[in-house]
Amino acid sequence: MNPRAPVPLVARFACFVTGTDTGIGKTHASATLLHALHAAGYRTAGMKPVASGSEWRDGHWHNDDVAQLRAASSVAVPLGQTCPFLLRTPCSPHLAAAQEGVRITRAPIRDAFDALRRQADAVVVEGVGGFNVPLDAGAVRWNTADLAVMLSVPVVMVVGIRLGCLNHAVLTAEAIRARGLPLAGWIANRVDPDMLLADENIATLHASLDAPCLGELPWQLAPASAADRLDLAPLLTAATRYQAEAAGLAA
Ligand SMILES: Nc1ncnc2c1ncn2[C@@H]1O[C@H](COP(=O)(O)OP(=O)(O)OP(=O)(O)O)[C@@H](O)[C@H]1O
Ligand SMILES: [Mg+2]
Repeated sequence: MNPRAPVPLVARFACFVTGTDTGIGKTHASATLLHALHAAGYRTAGMKPVASGSEWRDGHWHNDDVAQLRAASSVAVPLGQTCPFLLRTPCSPHLAAAQEGVRITRAPIRDAFDALRRQADAVVVEGVGGFNVPLDAGAVRWNTADLAVMLSVPVVMVVGIRLGCLNHAVLTAEAIRARGLPLAGWIANRVDPDMLLADENIATLHASLDAPCLGELPWQLAPASAADRLDLAPLLTAATRYQAEAAGLAA
């Protein structure tokens, strides 16, 4: 991979970043993607449609994921567009929402996403937990896989390189494709510096996953410094193809 190779610029680009589990580096990888896209010439905005776990600080509710995505974005946008559902309780979003008397609904997310797309050329949307996490378990049942389908953008899967990741990665890739979404690529994120045979696990992922690897993120390298470890070309190619297919279907 040549990280300096020119990438084909897509006029408007968005992707949905999911992962093999919670706490495996979706935010870390999303921030790295935002830096890489900015270096490639895009005006960028990160989005976390639903965040649970926030604390009151400096006059507003603060969530670490939201703060990291905003810090990695090149376009300044209102907080409510980065995160239309900022919940306080640190648990699964449908439970946090129920605790707080909130219904997580589609329209505010759709509206915030559309607003971000008008202000930025590239929008990176971080999911919640793994690929299929409940957002509302009440009358209107929906989950994060439905959210990705609603946004209708290519998916990037972050694999946290730790014991169990081989099974989680294959199951997640199957679930993404089962929802009719393109798996544009996957990122190997080295979250466990003590993992035995980490390189061999990554080689197994290359052999198992029928999607391009966008790169490996080393242990403890900050997103801005790790940006050149990502190869954007497969992601932008997938986005171009997906947009063309969607336009063809709409015609
Ligand atoms: N490559 C890495 N090297 C060192 N630490 C990392 C790396 N990637 C992630 N981490 C750390 O692991 C923790 C979880 O990462 P992160 O918050 O990005 O995960 P996540 O998948 O977004 O979690 P969540 O499901 O809560 O959104 C954080 O403390 C983060 O700093
Ligand atoms: Mg996160």
